Amino acid sequence: MSMRSKLPDVGTTIFSVISRRAIEFDAMNVGQGFPDFPIDPLLAQCVTEAMAQGQNQYAQGDGVPELREAIAAKLADAHGIMVDPRASITVTCGATEALFSTIQAMVHPGDEVLVFDPAYDSYEPAVRLAGGRCIRIPLLPPSFAFDFDRVRAALTERTRLVIVNTPHNPACVAHDRSVLDTLAEVLRGRDIWILSDEVYEHTVFDGRAHTSVLAHPELRERTFAVFSFGKTLHVTGWRVGYCVATPPLMAEFRKVHQFNTFSIATPLQRGIARYLKQRPASWSELAGFFQRKRDLLTTLLEGSGFRPLPTQGTYFQLLDYSELTDQDDVGFSDRLIREAGVALIPLSPFYRERPDTRLLRICFAKRDETLEAAAQRLREFALRSAASALA
Ligand SMILES: Cc1ncc(COP(=O)(O)O)c(C=O)c1O
Repeated sequence: MSMRSKLPDVGTTIFSVISRRAIEFDAMNVGQGFPDFPIDPLLAQCVTEAMAQGQNQYAQGDGVPELREAIAAKLADAHGIMVDPRASITVTCGATEALFSTIQAMVHPGDEVLVFDPAYDSYEPAVRLAGGRCIRIPLLPPSFAFDFDRVRAALTERTRLVIVNTPHNPACVAHDRSVLDTLAEVLRGRDIWILSDEVYEHTVFDGRAHTSVLAHPELRERTFAVFSFGKTLHVTGWRVGYCVATPPLMAEFRKVHQFNTFSIATPLQRGIARYLKQRPASWSELAGFFQRKRDLLTTLLEGSGFRPLPTQGTYFQLLDYSELTDQDDVGFSDRLIREAGVALIPLSPFYRERPDTRLLRICFAKRDETLEAAAQRLREFALRSAASALA
C-alpha cells in the first residue's frame, strides 16, 4: 500500500529534538515552556472535589456555563472587554485546539494566511491541513518590529487570515496599540480575519498593559482571540484553553470544535470555575511573579557572555551569545547540552528563512533554584571556553 502524507516535510519539532538530547546528556531542560513549581493547592482541591462529586461525564460542547461566565468576568476585569459568555466563548483543549479549530473553520483550500516569523510551530501545519498556504513575514531582532510595507505587499485576493501573537513567543516583545491601529488600517475593507494568540496575556512587564485585539473596536469584529489556562494557572498539562469571538464567528468555530474535541474534561472545567470564583484575581499576581523571575535570571547572568535581550512579556528570555562564539544557534545549543549540561532552544528554527542570529531562548517559569543552577552552569561553561580559547 502506498501512503501519501499530508505533511510530508513535517519532522520532529525543535522542542522534541532538544528534549531528546537533554535526556541523552542528562542536561537541565530550561528551554521548553513549562513551570517546574507546584500549582496553587486550592486549584488542585477544586478539581479533586469536582471529580469526587461525580462531575465526570461529557461537558456541554461549548464549555460548562459557570466556566464561561468566569472567563467573561476575567476578560472584563483584566482587559475591559465585555462579551456574552453564551455566544462568544468556547472552552477548548488548550490554546492549541483553539488555534487549530479557528484555522479549520476559516481557511479554505487555496487561501493564504499571513504568519509573522519567528512563529509558534503549530500555525503552519494547521493551515496546510486546511489546504491553505502560509505567507511568512519576518520580524527581526533586536526590535522584532512589524514592517507594514511588507504586510501590505503580501496581501492578495486570496489572503483570508492574519495570525498575530502578543506577548510574543519567542520574540518576548509585546505589541502596543499603534501596531493594532496600523493593522486595522491595512485590513480595512477586506474580508480577512485575525487569529490573535494571546496566551501570555497576563505576563507583561514593567507596568505595560496587555493590548488584546479584542479591545480594539475596529479589529474586534474580525478577530478570534485564543487564551490558555495552562499558562495562567501553571497547568500546561491540563490542556484547557478558550477561544473568544463575535457570535457569528463563534458559530462557525463551534461547527469545527464539536467534531474536533467535542468537549473538554468536565472536572477540570468545573474545578477551574470554582477556583476562579474563590480567587477571581489570581491572574493579577502573574506579571509581578514572573517579572521577579525575569530579573533574577538577568542578574544571575550579568557579565557571563549570555546577554539578555529586553523581555517585555511571556515567560521566556532571549540570550545573545555572540560575545562567546560565532557558532550558529542550532549547533551552539547542542554544544551547550553536551558541554554545559543546559538545554536551551535556538531561535532560528522559528523562521522559514533562518536569519543568521546568535540567540537562544530560556524559560524562566522555573523555581529560583533551577534558574540559579542553570545560570551557574552557563557561567562556568563561558569561563571554561574563554580559558581554552586563551590556552
Ligand atoms: C505562543 C503560543 N501559542 C500557543 C501555545 C499553546 O498553548 P496551550 O498549551 O494552551 O495549547 C503556546 C504554548 O507554549 C504558545 O507559546
